Amino acid sequence: MDRVLTGDRPTGPLHLGHYFGTLHNRVRLQAAGAALTLVIADYQVLTDSDAAGRLAPVVEGLVLDYLAAGIDPEKTTVFTHSAVPALNQLLLPFLSLVSVPELERNPTVKDEIVHSRRASVSGLMFTYPVHQAADILFGKATLVPVGQDQLPHLELTRTIARRFTERYGPLFDQPEGLLSAAPLLLGTDGGKMSKSRGNAIPLAATADVTARLIRGAKTDADRHITFDPQGRPEVSNLVLIAALCTGRAPEAVAAEIGTAGAAGLKKLVTDAVNEYFAPIRARRAEYARDPGVVRAILRSGNARANAVADATLAEVRTAMGMAY
Ligand code: TRP
Repeated sequence: MDRVLTGDRPTGPLHLGHYFGTLHNRVRLQAAGAALTLVIADYQVLTDSDAAGRLAPVVEGLVLDYLAAGIDPEKTTVFTHSAVPALNQLLLPFLSLVSVPELERNPTVKDEIVHSRRASVSGLMFTYPVHQAADILFGKATLVPVGQDQLPHLELTRTIARRFTERYGPLFDQPEGLLSAAPLLLGTDGGKMSKSRGNAIPLAATADVTARLIRGAKTDADRHITFDPQGRPEVSNLVLIAALCTGRAPEAVAAEIGTAGAAGLKKLVTDAVNEYFAPIRARRAEYARDPGVVRAILRSGNARANAVADATLAEVRTAMGMAY
């Protein structure tokens, strides 16, 4: 059975794009019996914001989103990498295995630098992909479900695993990526649904907020609703959301709306989202009632991750002749 590792930067509440893109799939892997580990990448957030002092509520919200979506902390390890020193220590030997030009060439990092509104680029921006390799390799993950933008980091992880083996002997296998088959969801403005763009429908939104967000979504003037992602991206995206929530084909959803126009479409999407997420939101509220629950989950996840990371670091130090 695969050892699966994936995770998120704690930058804000998870939204429908995350849910249908990755969360759903994680819950499926968990149900299939995979040993799943989720890293809440709290050091990685520091690449693009000064969020450090405000991270705790975001991290706790992320755990609640996981629990609401069906992550079972008995089966799945959820941890924050700031709480796992041995994982972080792997960064140093791993850094020695990559060159500066390799780090500078990373297309995802380059893109993030273009989009970051910071006066200067921090060293962490160039090195976090190596830290991400430590996230993946500390527990010797075999499978890493990620989005397209994460593939350069996975490739770097594979390179580090291979070079470590060449230099110090076999310890790390090369993990495989698992690209999500889920379609990319657009936000209410027609751009990619994103926490930072203010166009997302959060998993944990109330029914009223959901209705308001969908009411404000961009559509077009043609009253005849069709599913045509190329020609009518915004309308088709709403149709797709309704289809995902109701388990139907998008074409069938569009046909049912017919000539009811954007108003008919939005009503149907709102009802579909609110109905699908009602039990998920109720479960989230239930967990949120006792803040001790989330803290206990993180404490035990961090303890498990520390045990694994300590063992791996010991192997690394032995392989490197540094077990004094
Ligand atoms: N970089 C990922 C993101 O921005 C989050 C992440 C951190 C991650 N460590 C990871 C993903 C390890 C997969 C594996 O979404």
